[in-house]
Amino acid sequence: MKILIVGSGGREYSIALSLKNDKNVESLYFAPGNGATDELGINLDIKDFEKLADFVENEGISLTIVGPEAPLVEGIVDVFRKRGLTIFGASKAAARLEGSKAFMKDFLARHDIPTARYIQTSSYEKASDFIDTLSAPIVVKADGLCAGKGVIIAKSKDEAKKAASDMLSGESFADAGKTVVVEEFLDGFELSVFAVCDGENYKILPAAQDHKRLLDNDEGPNTGGMGAYAPTPLANDDIYSQIEEFVVKPTLKGMREEGAPYTGVLFVGAMVVGKKVYVLEYNVRFGDPECEVLMPLLKSAPSELFYKAAAGRLNELDLQFKDEFAVGVVVASENYPYKSSAPKPISVTAKNSAHSHISYAGVDKKDGVLYANGGRVLLCVGIGKSVKEARDNAYDLTKKVFFEGAKFRNDIAYQALK
Ligand code: AMP
Ligand code: GLY
Repeated sequence: MKILIVGSGGREYSIALSLKNDKNVESLYFAPGNGATDELGINLDIKDFEKLADFVENEGISLTIVGPEAPLVEGIVDVFRKRGLTIFGASKAAARLEGSKAFMKDFLARHDIPTARYIQTSSYEKASDFIDTLSAPIVVKADGLCAGKGVIIAKSKDEAKKAASDMLSGESFADAGKTVVVEEFLDGFELSVFAVCDGENYKILPAAQDHKRLLDNDEGPNTGGMGAYAPTPLANDDIYSQIEEFVVKPTLKGMREEGAPYTGVLFVGAMVVGKKVYVLEYNVRFGDPECEVLMPLLKSAPSELFYKAAAGRLNELDLQFKDEFAVGVVVASENYPYKSSAPKPISVTAKNSAHSHISYAGVDKKDGVLYANGGRVLLCVGIGKSVKEARDNAYDLTKKVFFEGAKFRNDIAYQALK
């Protein structure tokens, strides 16, 4: 089959790489893709959803997979489905779980899904009164999409009030901050858990851990994620069963009842406090870099997973994973995440193998040369029979990747190895 992948990051590259080795897959297309995806398929410069659907129809593409949240929130799935096309992703109505934190928190409350105590409001007085009932640290979140920057962990009530006031006035995040969520701080460890859903049925993937801070020991500013690994031994059977019973099942049921059946991948950002699982947030897409460490662990054909989910037939699938671990180390540009960096040529002195490979993200190609174009440039993925072996393989690969200003964390997967 022919498959179109919407997006341009390492996540989309890793989905493509796994599909490339799938015997059901004839060819791949990307909209827009990046400087390295053109080695796996054909990059398209079509932004308009209707025009993209025209292309899919004319080319006989049987499945479209949407990577990032923006096109989902903008309704790409609705446009494609209306035209009878098979697409993997959440509808516009379902994508509100990520597009609005206020909607997401109210949804969790309506369906008794465990989450931090909160209010959502557009009134400074109400935010301030609620802040007075909490003790620091206090979490203040902008309602709308802020490219992962809309969360402030305030160290005092005054700082929390200032953050709420800056958001509500539109100063911090423009319209995305016109409603805020204020919530209690949960002190535990975080997991990224993904459930692939077809509205009715679901498959829960092995739990991963991201590393959001820029520097070793979880110091420095938040980033889009500096590395990930899976499966994490921190997630035991009890945690998986809480996620299934108290999170995924009621979410699918709730979304159906509310007229927005959930399809695509549900990203549960979970915090485990003591032994109890709480939902911090939902995203309506795979995490990046989590996706890059999950795709290589799939034993079942990835085309089957995506196609059956998109076609509402997940119940037919016996999803299997390899008995291995994957660790991914993000190699970022010099100025990430503060500002952009000038393009730098990349050289790699290793070939992809069964033990390690590169997943390309922020790269452009000019005259056949790959350039780091700023941000998170690529991910070195190691595979192994243990977290340690996978991590060693990933770090061995980082030694064979060069571009000026390249930087990465040295402690990815530390929580599994301490
Ligand atoms: P979010 O975008 O809601 O996932 O928030 C980004 C990050 O902020 C999360 O990955 C957590 O590390 C942190 N965070 C968000 N909400 C809370 C909370 N209630 N308690 C503790 N940390 C939080
Ligand atoms: N790695 C976290 C995210 O994709 O939001």
